[in-house]
Amino acid sequence: MIKAETIAEVRAQVRAWKQQGLTVGLVPTMGYLHEGHASLVDRAVAQCDRVVVSDFVNPTQFGPGEDLEAYPRDFDRDCALLEAHGCHLVFHPSVEEMYAPGAATYVEIQSEMPRQLCGQTRPIHFRGVCTVVSKLFHIVTPDKAFFGQKDAQQLAIIRRMVRDLSYGIEIVGCPIVREEDGLAKSSRNTYLNPQERQAALVLSQAVALGQKMAQEGETDAEKIVGAMRAHIEKEPLARIDYVSAVDGETMEPVREMKGLVLVAMAVYIGKTRLIDNFEVGREAV
Ligand code: PAF
Repeated sequence: MIKAETIAEVRAQVRAWKQQGLTVGLVPTMGYLHEGHASLVDRAVAQCDRVVVSDFVNPTQFGPGEDLEAYPRDFDRDCALLEAHGCHLVFHPSVEEMYAPGAATYVEIQSEMPRQLCGQTRPIHFRGVCTVVSKLFHIVTPDKAFFGQKDAQQLAIIRRMVRDLSYGIEIVGCPIVREEDGLAKSSRNTYLNPQERQAALVLSQAVALGQKMAQEGETDAEKIVGAMRAHIEKEPLARIDYVSAVDGETMEPVREMKGLVLVAMAVYIGKTRLIDNFEVGREAV
């Protein structure tokens, strides 16, 4: 596996691969990799001849007072996981390599989409995500890029950005990977103490509850969200940021479980903000 720290190295390698007629897949990550990331790499390896993984904690997607400095990092461990899963090149740039002094150009969706859900409490988050993903697309020029469905709003926003800016890159959404007891895998799970780790199960339990109601034919989105909220509120260590049902493409709130609906939540367990979600109606899209 090649370890590249500069944009120039990545460009040269990808150019060489493309000259050989090979297809390239990109898995953007912020490192501290877990089985959720590994599943993205596996899928990329299965669908592309060469796989690039970016490992970069992107400062522009963190707001003031968020966990940029505390965000866990372990590049050596990441490399071991990536080698084991068949990654061909890991791109691990410095902040200075990614953002030249005075960098002031951003990619931002000018609609309500990035202001819904996580955007309500993280107003600059998706501008940072779109900017860095856009840069990675320019640097790596992949045929396909792989993102997890756990960050469902991010996935929808990236699909929109790719469509609006005509990137010509296929975006592949991959299912949420869970611990045995249901907790969605996340680098932030490492912040949880044993008591919080137990309390964090309310998220996946609320997902299971909402999914069951939808499967059993409940069409009132507010009833589903209300039942999920009530379940989470029973846990003293949990504080709801949001639980919402939205249109799966536009992220606009919906009242009825009709078409593609995303039911998503962000919940603080102690100081750690965790997210989880489920979708209904994807097969109809
Ligand atoms: O999902 C993430 O880890 C990040 O938001 C991403 C897509 C790598 C951009 O920094």
